[in-house]
Amino acid sequence: MRTLPLINAPHTLFLLLLITVITGCQHIGINESNSLFIGRYSEYMQGNIPEQYADLKNPYPASTENIVDGKRLYQAQCQMCHGESGQGDGLAGKQLLPRPANLSLTRRLPVTTDSFLFWTLSEGGQSLGTAMPAFTNRLSDEEMWQIIRYINTGFSPAQGVSI
Ligand code: HEC
Repeated sequence: MRTLPLINAPHTLFLLLLITVITGCQHIGINESNSLFIGRYSEYMQGNIPEQYADLKNPYPASTENIVDGKRLYQAQCQMCHGESGQGDGLAGKQLLPRPANLSLTRRLPVTTDSFLFWTLSEGGQSLGTAMPAFTNRLSDEEMWQIIRYINTGFSPAQGVSI
């Protein structure tokens, strides 16, 4: 049986989750203008991203080396806006609207796939009118994937490594 895109289960579940998050945020006094930026998710969910970013999987395994390199790169390129543990609280992001995303939260949403992250890092927010920089000419693909590894492992270096 064919299913209509609208009732595609993961999308419907995600939309319900989003509505719950937004309603919850309004309840505790956080609104869209200072916290959650929805535009990027809806672009991605409607498939409005360049073909080359569809269905990507991180080719770099969760090895100690990749995670440690990812952490070093994150600290140099992302931390000033997204904060040390990814909470969107970096000093350089304080005046931006929309604010830098809380990556420690959004990395757990079903929408935050490898494709979503690699598209976001590569192209930034120019087409969405946000201050998220594009890294495609500043970092290699390997470096972006290492950063994504670091984000996906919860902003923790691999076990047993002290850096
Ligand atoms: C100049 C500040 C700035 C820097 C530096 C920056 N970002 Fe962002 N980032 C933003 C802003 C603002 C947003 C929210 C708007 C958007 O999604 O385009 C964002 C959004 C994102 C998102 C989307 C997350 C979501 O759930 O919507 C990801 C992923 C991300 N940034 C990762 C990174 C990574 C990784 C780096 C470093 C390689 C980085 N950013 C560097 C400002 C920044």
